Amino acid sequence: MNNINKNALIGDLNGAFGVSIDKYDVSRAGVRDDIPRLKQLFDQHHVLVFKNQNLSEKQQIEFTKLWGSLENFPEADKTKDSVTTYHVANVSAAGDHLSENHTQSVFQKVNQLWHTDSSYRFIPSFASLLYAIEVLPNHALGGETEFVDMFSVYKNLSDEKKAAVESLHMVHYYEYGRRIFPQLPAINSFERENVPPVSHPLVRVHQNRKGSRSLFFTENAGGEVSGMDHSSGKSLHAELVAAVSGSHYKLKHRWSKGDLVMWDNRCLVHRAVPYDMNNYRRVLRRTTVAGKEPVRGPFSS
Ligand SMILES: [Fe+2]
Repeated sequence: MNNINKNALIGDLNGAFGVSIDKYDVSRAGVRDDIPRLKQLFDQHHVLVFKNQNLSEKQQIEFTKLWGSLENFPEADKTKDSVTTYHVANVSAAGDHLSENHTQSVFQKVNQLWHTDSSYRFIPSFASLLYAIEVLPNHALGGETEFVDMFSVYKNLSDEKKAAVESLHMVHYYEYGRRIFPQLPAINSFERENVPPVSHPLVRVHQNRKGSRSLFFTENAGGEVSGMDHSSGKSLHAELVAAVSGSHYKLKHRWSKGDLVMWDNRCLVHRAVPYDMNNYRRVLRRTTVAGKEPVRGPFSS
């Protein structure tokens, strides 16, 4: 199984999916040759945890580009050096610890709800890579990232619920975080034009997996279902959120400095576990691999 590098150690994580890869430097020369094998691991396990990395922003971008095109973020002002990296941080670009009520911290609270990155795009992202720069001490509560396998969530819906969601779409939009946290500043007209609302099928059909189905929706980029009145749509959405939260197919990653975690946005949702933002600093750097095609549903041509 292990042929990416003779020293690399690949091991299952303590959950239903995901693998840990130790003693493997993603910035080393020749990593490009390992991508086909890493892609196999990624398709099979959905989450890759590369331990003990020491990556500059440039090195993280270079590794990310080996997987596909980089995706830009819609709001340039939340990034440090580039529109292709996003700092998931309660720390300013200058290194100051920000209070939990600071706008940048409140943005992190949007990430504490189940979501898949950039679902607000017509072509949502393929994968995200998150690199740990500052992490919570071992004794602190929270700060982990949790993942849920949406193939399993779909599979475990009742037949009645599967039939009910078969033809439905959810509306996804970037601004929805502002409805949850109205204290956040409004997005400007350029950004609004750049990321207008989109709808995606609730049931995602994966052609690269012989038509397997997963549930595709988020808690933080919308709550409305096309074709349903507001309250019925909200109530269905709440049921699906409960199905995700109650899933046994969960992986909780406790961050160590130097972890680089890569996950599949096509078939997982994730969220950050809340932590005491006033007492602890947390800085993670994300890059994103763009998707290649729109989300296909059971009735997509
Ligand atoms: Fe995220």
